[in-house]
Amino acid sequence: MLGGKKVILGVTGSIAAYKAADIAGQLVRHGAGVHVVMTRAAREFVSPLTLEAISGNRVHTEMFAERSGAMVHLDLGRQADLLIVAPATANLIGKVAAGLADDLLTTLVLAFRSPVLFCPAMNPAMYANPVVQRNVAALRAAGYHFCGPEAGRVACGEEGPGRLAAVEAILDRAAGLLRGADDLKGIGVLVTAGPTREPLDPVRYLTNHSSGRMGYAVARAARDRGARVILVSGPTALRAPDGVSLVSVTTAAQMFTAVSRHLPESEVLIMAAAVADYRPATAAPEKIKKGDRPLTLELVPNEDILAYAGRSKKPGQVVIGFAAETGDPGERALDKARRKGADLVVGNDVTRPDAGFDVETNAVVFAFPDGQLLRLPKMDKYEVAWRLLDEVLRIRDGGAGA
Ligand code: PMT
Repeated sequence: MLGGKKVILGVTGSIAAYKAADIAGQLVRHGAGVHVVMTRAAREFVSPLTLEAISGNRVHTEMFAERSGAMVHLDLGRQADLLIVAPATANLIGKVAAGLADDLLTTLVLAFRSPVLFCPAMNPAMYANPVVQRNVAALRAAGYHFCGPEAGRVACGEEGPGRLAAVEAILDRAAGLLRGADDLKGIGVLVTAGPTREPLDPVRYLTNHSSGRMGYAVARAARDRGARVILVSGPTALRAPDGVSLVSVTTAAQMFTAVSRHLPESEVLIMAAAVADYRPATAAPEKIKKGDRPLTLELVPNEDILAYAGRSKKPGQVVIGFAAETGDPGERALDKARRKGADLVVGNDVTRPDAGFDVETNAVVFAFPDGQLLRLPKMDKYEVAWRLLDEVLRIRDGGAGA
């Protein structure tokens, strides 16, 4: 999404300003044209020359000193698709929230018509200050976007939310904003992702190969389209997407509790998690000792969360499942859609090396309970998620799908 786009990177005076070099470099690497605007304080932390060399474009610093007669803030802003302010200090956020424009960057932000993404970085006590929180809330309400801050140890040694978001998270949000869709704005989307773990004893469990990638891609795509996203995730190695509420669970029973708690406040449920159908009848309190005789495990069925959601679906709610199949998934996904009361089941063949578990791509078939099958070519999981959300909107609008 970044290829061929024009991005303005605003840099303000924070210790995290040095990370602007990495952000600019990654944007350029992804094919974006990058123009950097620095405040006076930012130049105390990082040299314009560095950002000039990385972006390949002249760095803008002054409102009046550059080309005589030119309206730099308007010229720059008119040409750009996105403005990222990273790091964004409390001062910059406060000035924009108050409608002040006393330097090139603040003037540019106020005059900018395309999306603006603020990436705050500051001392945690400062970020927690109610005045700063009020300014952030005011900017959010005015349609500005935020990425981070992350919680952790900041340069001054204090801990808490205040660290600049990871460069990868900033790029991910930037790419989402550049797609420019807002068609899920305000809609509550509940997504499940990852595997569940069913304990046998304190050291062993039953699980599967789900990495969480498919469900996390759905959560990111829904967020990028303006949804309020709750992501109920089994154990994964993935970073929680910025701007999404994460509920971490381990077992299928915990996932059931989390989904049933959040379902009433959600218009859409998308179950991409690989939920264990069975769990050990009992989890031994101590490690099961090795013996010479065969060991038989008794397994009992877990509640089917998707079927529960299908049964308790309210008018207007959309319920989507996935079907992990070994072989052609079409007919089996259709059967699951009908049996579980889902509006659509996304079938995938998990024996393919380029689809299903633990890869970046998927090849899916959308199965609708009326018998329609829509087969999609192999694509990135984020693209699958995007196409799936198109279907969600069609179903919500009363369309038959596909
Ligand atoms: O996480 P990745 O590595 O990216 O892999 C993606 C994926 C292969 C896990 C994903 O694309 C996928 O297929 N998810 C569904 C896996 C699965 O559990 O399929 P199933 O056919 O066993 O279940 C059908 C549906 O019922 C699923 O939506 C599942 O979430 C749901 N289910 C299953 C059992 C259960 N007890 N409760 C449920 O809600």
